[in-house]
Amino acid sequence: MIIIYNGGTKGRTMRTALKFLGAVVAAVVTAGALGLAASGVLAASGEVNLYTDRQEVFLRAVLVAFEEESGVAVNVLFVKKGLLERMRAEGEESPADVVMAADVGRLRDFAAAGLTAPVDDAALLAAVPPEYRDGDGYWFGITRRARAIFTGANGGAKTYDDLASPQMKGGVCMRSGLHSYNIALISDMIARKGKDGARAWLEGVKQNLARTPQGNDRAQIRGVLNGECRAGVANSYYYFQMLKGDLRGELLANVEMVVPLRANVNVTGSALAARAPNRENALLLMRFLAGEKAQNIYASENFEFPVNLSAEYPPELERYRGVLLRASPAGNSGRYRKEASRLVEEIGFDR
Ligand SMILES: [Fe+2]
Repeated sequence: MIIIYNGGTKGRTMRTALKFLGAVVAAVVTAGALGLAASGVLAASGEVNLYTDRQEVFLRAVLVAFEEESGVAVNVLFVKKGLLERMRAEGEESPADVVMAADVGRLRDFAAAGLTAPVDDAALLAAVPPEYRDGDGYWFGITRRARAIFTGANGGAKTYDDLASPQMKGGVCMRSGLHSYNIALISDMIARKGKDGARAWLEGVKQNLARTPQGNDRAQIRGVLNGECRAGVANSYYYFQMLKGDLRGELLANVEMVVPLRANVNVTGSALAARAPNRENALLLMRFLAGEKAQNIYASENFEFPVNLSAEYPPELERYRGVLLRASPAGNSGRYRKEASRLVEEIGFDR
């Protein structure tokens, strides 16, 4: 596996200083020259080029398993910010085969920019339930995270509506409404309640805030733990990550993670690049990512929920399997992002 970093990630051992398209193309060609079966400049049969904003630490085990099973070498271009702009600038020369992004909204952006192509593939359609893929085949979910509610002993919030109810006055903690995780949640609320309903909900939540929106997702969970908040909102995997650390005992005793009915769920997903030079290998990789083996690795290493219903769940995640069957469709997270941002600004949620 060859990994090229171009996103300002610090301290990576395999980081290179490659900054331009030419360098990326050169690296891919070099991969061929090194014996990875490149048989033309970019149309090599034995490799696949993955463009992603997903950190390598989350991908490595899955991609190594793919290489072992398929014999196809994976070249990864990791760009934390500006992946879409980069691919657009590369135009017809882009070596990208598969795009992987950690947000439905961003996957939609790639499709809208004409950078990804629809896929009609029986194996993918069978592996990924309709709620976690695009209806036209432009993206397929790999893992899910729920926007969960965290409550303390006297919390009481079990649903998103509870967060806006008068009983929660002075008790709710949330990060900035403009963060992409909350934009996805508000987009979902617009999808299910309409704009007016979502506005009333968000105003209700604002009325109930324990403090000005601040901090990251973990800070909301810590706020519940230290009693500053009766309920906080954060992505599910952060809780499981925190359970691996010093706070495990305290968290288990004092903080409950609630995945509400019709939970807001966002996905990391894959998409086929519109001009994929290694199209068949791209489909092999996409099928592998949606398959049980990859999903099991993901779930056990990253604590994200699999999308494949046949995948195993680690014990910590198992109890949420049932409620997640009744989650909101992932597409709702990306559908009304503009309207959601406007709503946050208009009601001054962060002030
Ligand atoms: Fe995150």
